[in-house]
Amino acid sequence: MKIDEFKVEEWFNKYEKWAKYDLADTCVESLSINELLNITANNDVSEIFTRKLNYGDIHGSTRLKIAISELYENQSIDNITITHGAIGANQLVIHSIVDLGDKVVSIIPTYQQHYSIPKSVGADVKLCFLKEANNWLPDLEELESLVGTDTKLICMNNPNNPTGSVIPDDMMERIVEIAQKSDAYILCDEVYRGLKHDGSPFTKSIADIYDKGISTGSVSKVFSLAGLRLGWIAANNKVIKEVNHQREYNTISVGMLDDYFASLAIENKEAIIKRNIDKVRKGKKILIDWLNRENKVRCVIPQAGTTAFVGYNLPLNSAILCDKLQNETGVMILPGEAMELDGYLRIGYGNNFEQLKTALDIFSDWLNK
Ligand SMILES: Cc1ncc(COP(=O)(O)O)c(C=O)c1O
Repeated sequence: MKIDEFKVEEWFNKYEKWAKYDLADTCVESLSINELLNITANNDVSEIFTRKLNYGDIHGSTRLKIAISELYENQSIDNITITHGAIGANQLVIHSIVDLGDKVVSIIPTYQQHYSIPKSVGADVKLCFLKEANNWLPDLEELESLVGTDTKLICMNNPNNPTGSVIPDDMMERIVEIAQKSDAYILCDEVYRGLKHDGSPFTKSIADIYDKGISTGSVSKVFSLAGLRLGWIAANNKVIKEVNHQREYNTISVGMLDDYFASLAIENKEAIIKRNIDKVRKGKKILIDWLNRENKVRCVIPQAGTTAFVGYNLPLNSAILCDKLQNETGVMILPGEAMELDGYLRIGYGNNFEQLKTALDIFSDWLNK
C-alpha cells in the first residue's frame, strides 16, 4: 500500500531534535508517573507491581472502558474499543469502513490521516477547507455540495487542530443532517475533546448525537499522557465489531501498564483537566499578548485545544519561513503548508511558558529585521 508522506510527522522528525524553543508541540505539558500518582494520590496502585505482564484484556480492561464511557453521554462499554493512541484509532476506523472507489469528504486542515489513509486505499477523497473568514468553522453549503448521495464517510476533527475552533452544537446537528442524506458515517477525531477553554471542557461528541457517528480519542492531549500511547474508539456495536475484526491484525491488546495508568488518569479526570485548562489558559494569554503587540501576524483566537493557527503578512512560503526561522534562531514552529494551508503557522501554547514568551519575542525580532 502506497501512502503520501505524513507532512507534520516528517517535519517533526526533521526539526524537533535540534529545536532550541519548541513551539510546534501539541501536548499540554506531559505528566511523569510520579506526577500522575500525586494527582491521583487516593488510589492504591500497589497491585500493578505484582501483576503478571501477559497480554491483559484483549480489547482493553473493563475498568478502562467504564472510565472512557463516562466521558460520553450515552456510550456503554460495548461501544468502546481500545487502541494504540488516537492514531491507531483513526487508522482502524478508516480501514474498517473505506474501500477502493468509496467516496469520502474530509474537512481540513486536520490530522493528515483523515485524507491520506482513505486516498491510500483508493477512495475518491474530496476536501472541504475551513476558512479563516468563517472563524475556521465549516461552510455548510460547501460541505453539502461536496457530500453526494453515495458518500460513505465524512472525516472531521473537533475541537480542531490546528485552529482551536469548536463547532457549536447546532452546527454539529446540521452536519449530521448532511451525513444522513447519504447515510454516511462521520468519523470525528475528538483527541482535544475535554480541552475547551471556557465553560464545560467537553464539547458534544459525535458518538452521542449520531448513530453512525464515530468518536476517536486518547490520553495524549487532554490527559497529558502521550507516552502511554493509549486511545479509543466509541461507536455503535456494528462499527466496534468491524473495527475489532481489523484490530486482530495490528493490535492484539494495548500495553497492560498503559491500560492501567490511563484508567487511573481518566477516573481522576476533574483534577487533570483542571490542571490542563489552567495551563492552556495561561499559554493562551501569553499568545494573545504577543498577538496584540505583533502587527505582522493575525489570528482567530482558539477556543479549545493547545494550538493556534496564525496568519502572517509576508510574501514567503511557510515552510521556507519556518526553516529559516529555526536555522537562524532555534525557534521551531510548524508551517501551515504541512497542514495544506500555506500562509499560516501553527503555534502550540500548552507547554513551558517562559520558553513560549521568550520564543515569541525572538520570533518578533526576527520578523521585524
Ligand atoms: C487531531 C489529532 N489526532 C490524532 C493525533 C494522534 O494522537 P495520539 O498521540 O493519541 O496517537 C494527534 C496528535 O497530534 C492529533 O493532533
